[in-house]
Amino acid sequence: MTTLSDWLAAQHVDDALKSVVGTMAAASVDIAAVLRTAPISGQTGLAGQTNVQGEAQKELDVVSNDIVLNHIRQNPQISILVSEELDEEVHLENQGRYMVATDPLDGSSNLDVNVTVGTIFSVLESAGGLLQQGTAQKAAGYAAYGPATSLVLTFGTSTAVFTLDDAGVWVLTADAVKVQPASAEYAINTARERFWDAATRGYVAENVAGETGPTGKRHNMRWVGSMVADIHRILMRGGIFMYPLDSETVSKGGRLRLLYEANPMALLIEAAGGKSTTGTQRILDVVPTGIHQRVPVILGSAEEVDRVEGWYARG
Ligand code: AHG
Ligand code: MN
Ligand code: MN
Repeated sequence: MTTLSDWLAAQHVDDALKSVVGTMAAASVDIAAVLRTAPISGQTGLAGQTNVQGEAQKELDVVSNDIVLNHIRQNPQISILVSEELDEEVHLENQGRYMVATDPLDGSSNLDVNVTVGTIFSVLESAGGLLQQGTAQKAAGYAAYGPATSLVLTFGTSTAVFTLDDAGVWVLTADAVKVQPASAEYAINTARERFWDAATRGYVAENVAGETGPTGKRHNMRWVGSMVADIHRILMRGGIFMYPLDSETVSKGGRLRLLYEANPMALLIEAAGGKSTTGTQRILDVVPTGIHQRVPVILGSAEEVDRVEGWYARG
């Protein structure tokens, strides 16, 4: 059995960076514990506030954010926290080398129906400033709170999956995961079809045509509504996740957030051999203009991402 500690000890990165990842892993254990019994403890429903993006905060969004913040405060290696749930970045008392950007609870609309949610995080060097490209990330990961509690990590070269055991220990369950290059499973909110651009329409129409279309194979659609759950499926068995720019999200630049949703997921998927794009640019190359910046997100199996980019290239 290889534990997270064993695995971290074998990674060729500095101990400070390992400790940052360890802090997020520990925060995820605490969030998992709160989520497991939330309907009993009554921690459901809205917090009665909206975050900076104008979205209603659930009580558990706020609780998860507080758990992450409390863990981060205890790690002297972390000096800055950027969170979906905090309007501004937090400058911590510690003058540590690293900064964490997090979506403490992703997919929170799924909480009330007991469907998988998660915590996403990105680790950067504080010296690089708040607005760094995804290529500058030193580590990224997510926890998925599903039938099993999973932790998926990368330091940029390989992606590993851990599972939380009954004793609260993360056990390595898949190392050097590879996203299969070909797939026939796509994830997109098709209720948004009337807002789609020509490229999205073209790609999805080819999939819907199945054996009778240019791909010559039947495709399947899956949309959980928690990015963490959709990306975890794609990591384990291939597929593509799409939240493209559409006529409704164009004024905001997209739906999902660059620093703590798109970038960490793009690093995890690329380290596993998959690809990521906005449609016209690699997600990790996008230069951020704000900490809560949104971006179009298309990522997963390389051949599928190539096919979408082909549609965008047709203009
Ligand atoms: P969050 O709960 O952090 O706001 O994120 C929800 C995101 C993402 O997890 C998911 O893929 C997407 O929103 C779902 O969007 P739709 O509700 O438009 O399907
Ligand atoms: Mn989210
Ligand atoms: Mn969230």
